[in-house]
Amino acid sequence: SGVITLDPGYKNTGSCESAITFLDGEKGVLRYRGYSIEELAEKADFLEVVFLLIFGELPNKEQLDKFKADIIEQSEVNDDMKTVINGFPSSAHPMGMLSSLTSALIAFNPKSVNVDSEEDMYKAIVKLLAKFPTLAAWTLRRRNDLPLENRDKDLGFIESLLKMMFAKPGEDYVADKTVVDALDKLLILHADHEQNCSTSTVRIVGSSHAGLFASISAGVSALWGPLHGGANQAVIEMLEEIKNDGGDTSKFIAKAKDKEDPFRLMGFGHRVYKNFDPRAKIIKKAADEVLAALGVDDPILEIAKGLEKAALEDEYFVERKLYPNVDFYSGIIYRAMGIPTEMFTVMFAVGRLPGWIAQWREMRLGKEPIGRPRQVYIGETLRSFKELDNR
Ligand code: CMC
Repeated sequence: SGVITLDPGYKNTGSCESAITFLDGEKGVLRYRGYSIEELAEKADFLEVVFLLIFGELPNKEQLDKFKADIIEQSEVNDDMKTVINGFPSSAHPMGMLSSLTSALIAFNPKSVNVDSEEDMYKAIVKLLAKFPTLAAWTLRRRNDLPLENRDKDLGFIESLLKMMFAKPGEDYVADKTVVDALDKLLILHADHEQNCSTSTVRIVGSSHAGLFASISAGVSALWGPLHGGANQAVIEMLEEIKNDGGDTSKFIAKAKDKEDPFRLMGFGHRVYKNFDPRAKIIKKAADEVLAALGVDDPILEIAKGLEKAALEDEYFVERKLYPNVDFYSGIIYRAMGIPTEMFTVMFAVGRLPGWIAQWREMRLGKEPIGRPRQVYIGETLRSFKELDNR
């Protein structure tokens, strides 16, 4: 009741109180549970950050070992899930497959839906953390028509993920240390970002008490869009286009500024950051290091740097405070790792999973009411029905 405030895109509306991620868009600050993203990216490994985000504190050795063992124990994916994934054409977009597979997982784990106690919640969370990376890897294997393998339980989280993605049948696959470290860092940088589009989706779907897996499946779909996580794929496609066009960035800057042209500079701009995205800074440096360590000479990195420089010096971008975001350089690293462009947003989803879970858990434990925005009605007033012959 009362006056309804209109805020399209929720630009100024807080949807919840949250103790998980702090973001200061003016200063370019990002912290998970009070720890700076710079320090976490430097010193923590991904699973420590997963634990931190979900449960609020960095795990001690015993807690971390138990958490890792619980995940490994739940890592096997039901064989019938292979039938589900093999029903997709190998040309299917991996994000579509991932969202469907996450939903399909409910059928094989029906108890994961009832999470009335913290213990049930823990079980559902561990199950998802254990199986989601396998499903993500399988979307790539389906694309490459490779047999679907479960996690190698002797390997660490990142190593086993890479093995599930890349190992050829019978191959004694060992992931490159540089790739493992870089992927670990990238996943940490993507792990949470407060009430972004996919996270808000997870919270709102979960607020109806749909289960965790259904809520996360919806989050995957939200992330897919090019204005959100899909930007990492769109950035590389844009850089390729610039390269194939002869490498002149100014033409593309002009297109991005032209209001008649729907083209936007992908990987630029952010709803909250009006300064450098702190994640982009870390990723830019990592891109240089990873490409050097892997001996990859990618002309697209130079184009990206040129484009960034040109945009940062351009009045249009300066006035609107448009800076490179997390997606601007991440694709260049994924590419150097041999990950195909269509898989980039899936990698983002693997990184964001703990954030989605933490936010869902916080919402359920906080007994938040069902998410149900209001509207301002601008349609027809009462009309009388016209019979078909009279229309
Ligand atoms: N290229 C050209 N102009 C832009 C861009 C861009 N990338 N981003 C914003 N603008 C302009 C926009 O046209 C508007 O101009 P004006 O005031 O003249 O109408 C002004 O800047 C404000 O933009 P907005 O669309 O009102 O801002 P928003 O907060 O609704 O959108 C955004 C944020 C991230 C969707 C947008 O900046 C964008 O589309 N960026 C490109 C896609 C992208 O890189 N997305 C990844 C976001 S970061 C991580 C993630 O979510 O995955």
